[in-house]
Amino acid sequence: MKKVRVFAPASIANMGCGFDIIGLALDEVGDILEICASEGEGISIVNTSGVPLPEDVESNVVTPVIRKFFEMTGLSGHIDVNICRKIYPGSGIGSSSASSAAAALGMNELYGCPLSEEDLVICAMEGENLASGGYHADNAAPALMGGIVLIRGYEPLDLIKLPVPGNFYCAVAHPDIVVSTKEARSILPKAVPMHDAVRQWGNVGGLVAGLYSGNIDLIGRSMKDVVAEPYRKQFIPGFDELREKLLADGALAMNIAGSGPSVFALANRTETAHKAGETLRKHFEDLGIGVEAYVVKVSNKGAKLIA
Ligand code: HSE
Repeated sequence: MKKVRVFAPASIANMGCGFDIIGLALDEVGDILEICASEGEGISIVNTSGVPLPEDVESNVVTPVIRKFFEMTGLSGHIDVNICRKIYPGSGIGSSSASSAAAALGMNELYGCPLSEEDLVICAMEGENLASGGYHADNAAPALMGGIVLIRGYEPLDLIKLPVPGNFYCAVAHPDIVVSTKEARSILPKAVPMHDAVRQWGNVGGLVAGLYSGNIDLIGRSMKDVVAEPYRKQFIPGFDELREKLLADGALAMNIAGSGPSVFALANRTETAHKAGETLRKHFEDLGIGVEAYVVKVSNKGAKLIA
């Protein structure tokens, strides 16, 4: 019997304008899984994290990840998973992808690393599909690879790690509002008007250029989403007003974290990030909405084995 213990970080998808194609990894916050492989077949999962999760194996995101790993490698085995630490599902910081990424990396390590990094993202996307009803890699790729990742294409998967300017922080607020990723995806129109598409790809280009040149102002003014945010912001009370307050605090940008309902403000100074964190907390509290707010550094580190 072989056993590994794996950590995979939280992540924020979309980074404003990069719907389904850009995501970033966060420091320290994440999931920890212990995975054992033995002779035989089958998957069993225990959850010792204290965070409530569906109990049946078929509803857990790690199950399709493990199956995809076996399908891609032609290998087999019995897998026992212990979910030791877990980001709360629905928190908007890639809870399902942290488990999916940890499962993919752990499986690869247990079986002598037969799969490439891209292949592991493909495995992890199976978990995302179970959780959200769509194959997107903008949480799974940064959770596996760390840093800021651009998914240039899905067919085939083409992943590009973008530079992370030093001292990048996210102030994240998770308001006590329930919006599932499935619902937040289902309300999006199937087609984008040409003038919105032009604005969006201008911003994606600007964001990438800003990250490569370290041009903080360019990064901030490029993090604008005219494709998903106009439809999703209805779930977040006072969204436009909140953005104005955060920009006045000195945040570079404020966006929905992934599909929401969490929001985040990006800052390049720790004091600004903490001020933004307080503004986020107060905004929701003043509206009588429970909120968890915290500040996390953007991390270059992805999923890894731990002792
Ligand atoms: N890109 C995905 C979406 C992320 O916005 O639906 C989900 O966390």
